[in-house]
Amino acid sequence: MLYETVVVQAGLADLAAKNRWPARLDILQSGTGLFLALFMWGHMAFVSTILLGEPAMWAVTKFFEGYFIFGGSHPWLVSCVVGFVALVFVAHAFLAVRKFPGNYRQFRVILAHSRAMRHEDTTLWAWQAGTGFLLFFFASAHLYQMFVWPQNIGPYASSDRVWSDGLWPFYLTMLLAVELHGSIGLYRLAVKWGWPDAPRALLKKLKWGLTAFFLVLGLATLGAYMKIGFAHRAQYGERYTPVWALDSQDARQGEAR
Ligand code: HEM
Repeated sequence: MLYETVVVQAGLADLAAKNRWPARLDILQSGTGLFLALFMWGHMAFVSTILLGEPAMWAVTKFFEGYFIFGGSHPWLVSCVVGFVALVFVAHAFLAVRKFPGNYRQFRVILAHSRAMRHEDTTLWAWQAGTGFLLFFFASAHLYQMFVWPQNIGPYASSDRVWSDGLWPFYLTMLLAVELHGSIGLYRLAVKWGWPDAPRALLKKLKWGLTAFFLVLGLATLGAYMKIGFAHRAQYGERYTPVWALDSQDARQGEAR
């Protein structure tokens, strides 16, 4: 009975055949979201190696440039990874935009609905839509920069960007948006698809735990880049090279080659 009422009220009763595309697009949206959320965990692990010191972050950067495999730096390898992530990001944003309120009236309806319901999951949806909207701009700018100038990633190059190029407010905003967006997204995936099949209260605790963990790690990481960038401001543009690597011809040219 309830099912029929919903079908009639949604205006679906007169449709000749079931349309499977909304369900397919939903699976695609979940899949791309899951990929991006897991990518962000890996991303945080690599970026936060700066907390272990400049040599650790330098080694991670060089690893992605193929330095330890080919014996030389190839930043275009990083561009390839960025290009792939950017494609998934665009697909995810394209699929997500279907769910956004399409005009001011719809926006008012969802706002009133969410206030009247006072249901945490509905409020979380609004936060996810809001942070997702912010990420359209912030993540696009960040991915563009990483794609076009992959050679400018490294302990000093990144810290110079964060401090001397004044990008730390940009990163701070993006960090808050992406951590909220990612953890709410994973929670919603679990509730929607029923895996892991745990009580909602437990899933919620896990979600807040993840948000807190990645926010603390992210803020500490951003603080480390700011601190190094501040100390390095007089040598802006100089690249970091560990002493042991100075022997190698390629490494002598530093991060910039
Ligand atoms: C393959 C693609 C990506 C690469 C190579 C990459 C690389 C980096 C690097 C090297 C930094 C350190 C600062 C800098 O050098 O400018 C950084 C910071 C950051 N990135 Fe990405 N990034 C990628 C994708 C993303 C995506 C899709 C997001 C999501 C919106 C993102 C969000 C962030 C945030 C929030 C920070 C600041 C983290 C902190 O300082 O705690 N990145 N990224």
